[in-house]
Amino acid sequence: MSALNREQVLSVRHWTDTLFSFTTTRDAGFRFQSGQFAMMGLEVEGRPLLRAYSMASAHYEDNLEFFSIKVPDGPLTSRLQKIREGDIVLVGRKATGTLILDNLLPGSRLLLLSTGTGLAPFVSLIKDPDVYERYNSIVLVHGCRQVSELAYGEDVVKRLRKDEIFGEMLDGKLHYYPTVTREPFRNRGRITDLLSTGRLFDDMDQPRLSIDTDRVMLCGSPAMLEDLRVMFEAEGFAEGNHSEPGHFVVEKAFVER
Ligand code: A2P
Repeated sequence: MSALNREQVLSVRHWTDTLFSFTTTRDAGFRFQSGQFAMMGLEVEGRPLLRAYSMASAHYEDNLEFFSIKVPDGPLTSRLQKIREGDIVLVGRKATGTLILDNLLPGSRLLLLSTGTGLAPFVSLIKDPDVYERYNSIVLVHGCRQVSELAYGEDVVKRLRKDEIFGEMLDGKLHYYPTVTREPFRNRGRITDLLSTGRLFDDMDQPRLSIDTDRVMLCGSPAMLEDLRVMFEAEGFAEGNHSEPGHFVVEKAFVER
């Protein structure tokens, strides 16, 4: 049996010159947990060309959703950015990844810290009722260079808040904090600085970081992940994985080309 499912593209939305999202059909046998990723890509010259992509859709949704960058000379994304409704993409049958709820110790506030397309796994997680059962407060931070790069995340959060079923569940629990580093915006600065100064929490009228209450998921640029890992370890936070849950878990946003 092939390790890949052939899924049909159902919709494509371009957010900026460098970012797009799309939905596809979902094989009935494809299972994943919120926050996981799978190999995804295209058949190129008769061979699969795949990269790791986090599912942005919820585990219970009928369709799959992905959020991708576009790199003009990237082997996969230069092609993937041209997909249209009806085209076929390949999706690996096995989902995996460390950004899952069971890899974290119990806590009361969940910090989801992302840059760029590292937002994708958190889009899946904020649609999971289990997240709202386990945590009193969920803080979704998305850091980008430019305001326009926030559009997908803003749209997802707006739609979720308006949703008949989810709206109430999110109310007062989901705190969304978009931040921009290279142009004016209401929230400015790198996630590392926002955390070390405490401004992130002050801006949201939330208590400062505490190992007693906070559990953290990190996804985004390798430099950001490394700096945050050092910061959290200095606070005594231990990294979790499948064999031992911890105070924080890390996944890099994979596709750079
Ligand atoms: P900055 O504009 O100051 O570099 P990129 O597009 O390079 O992946 O970056 C996405 C976002 O992550 C940008 O806002 C960028 O800020 C920020 N960033 C890059 N490196 C780090 C880091 N080491 N720590 C925190 N934020 C970072």
